[in-house]
Amino acid sequence: MASTAPDASQDQESIKNSSIKFRSVKTLAESPELTSIPSSYTFTTNPDDELVTDPDDDDPIPVIDYSLLFIGTPDQRAKTIRDIGRACEQWGFFMLINHCVPKSLMEKLVDQVFAFFNLKEEEKQEYAGSKNVTDPIRYGTSFNPSMDKVKFWRDFIKIIVHPEFHSPDKPPGFRDTCAEYCRKTRKLGRELLKGISESLGLEADYIDRTMNLDHGLQMIAANLYSPCPQPELAMGMPPHSDHGLLNLLIQNGVCGLQVLHNNRWINVTSTPNCFVVLVSDHLEIVSNGKYKSVVHRAVVSNKATRISVATVVAPSMDTVVEPASELIDNETNPAAYVGMRHKDYMELQRTNHLYGKSVLNQVRI
Ligand code: OGA
Ligand code: NI
Repeated sequence: MASTAPDASQDQESIKNSSIKFRSVKTLAESPELTSIPSSYTFTTNPDDELVTDPDDDDPIPVIDYSLLFIGTPDQRAKTIRDIGRACEQWGFFMLINHCVPKSLMEKLVDQVFAFFNLKEEEKQEYAGSKNVTDPIRYGTSFNPSMDKVKFWRDFIKIIVHPEFHSPDKPPGFRDTCAEYCRKTRKLGRELLKGISESLGLEADYIDRTMNLDHGLQMIAANLYSPCPQPELAMGMPPHSDHGLLNLLIQNGVCGLQVLHNNRWINVTSTPNCFVVLVSDHLEIVSNGKYKSVVHRAVVSNKATRISVATVVAPSMDTVVEPASELIDNETNPAAYVGMRHKDYMELQRTNHLYGKSVLNQVRI
C-alpha cells in the first residue's frame, strides 16, 4: 500500500504522553514512511482561483530603489515616491532593492531561523504557549489549529520585538542577530512609511505620528515550509492579507510566494538581498482604500525546504486605526472603514478563519 500517512490516533497518544503539545509539519515531513499527506492537510482550491502565472513582460512587478529616497536628485526622489504610490495602488506590494539592511545580516537571520527550527521539538515547544496574540513568543503550526478547517503545511515562530524586545535564547546567537535585524528593518519600515505618507499627499511623518510608531508593534513571523510529498494537495499559507502597515518579507532562495493581481496568482521570485514589501490592512484603512492590502499565499514543494521571515511594522496596540481625516471628504470620498483599536483587530484575526480579506471586510463600511 502506497499511502502510509502516520496514524492520527496513535500520534495523538504519543503527544499526550510527552512534553510535545502538537505535531509539527517538520516532524510529519521527516517521518520516513510518509508518502502521502494526512487528509487533515488536504486543501481544496477553488478552481476559479487557479490562474497561476509568472508576471507579464508588459506589467512587471514593481521594483523600488530605496537609495533614491536619500541620495537621488530631487527629481529621482519625487519619481521614486510616485512609483511607490503607484505600486501600493496597483499591486499592493513591491520589491525593494538597495536598502539599508546588509545582505550578510539577512542571510544570518535566515540561518538562525533554520537553526531554531532544527532544535529538538521539546526545546521549541517550550514556546508553544497559550493562544493569545499578545504572547511575546509563539511557536506553532498551521495558522490557528483550533479554527483551521484544513491544516496548513507550515510551522512558525512569531516573536514580538517592539515596543519590548523578546527573543528565544536558543539557538546560540539567535537573540543578537534577531535584535540587530529588527533594529535595521524597523528603521527601513519607518522610512518607507514616510515616502508612502508623501505619496498620499500627507506630511512625511503623518503615518509615523498618527500610528504612534515610537511605541509601534513590530513582530517577526518566521515560517518553515518543509518538503511536502503531495504539494498540489497542500497549502503553506492560504490566501490572506496581513494586519499592520507593512510586511517586509525575506526568503531563503526558494520560491513559493504568490500574490493576487487582477484575479491571477502571480509567482514572486525569491531574489537575494531584496525585500518583498507587502501593503497590509492598516495601510489600506489609513489611505481610505486608495492603497490595497495585497492578498497573498504560500504554496509548497516536494523538493526544497523553504523559509520566509516576515517583519510586520504596525501601529501601537492601543492606536485606533481609521482613515486619515485629510483624505476624507464627506461628499466625495467618505470614510470607507470604521476605526478599530489595533489590538482588537488582531484579536479579530485570531478568532476568524484566515481567508482573503475576511477580517478587513468586518471594518469596511
Ligand atoms: C506571512 C506570509 C508568505 C510566505 O507570513 O504573513 O504571508 O511566503 N508569508 O511565507
Ligand atoms: Ni502574509
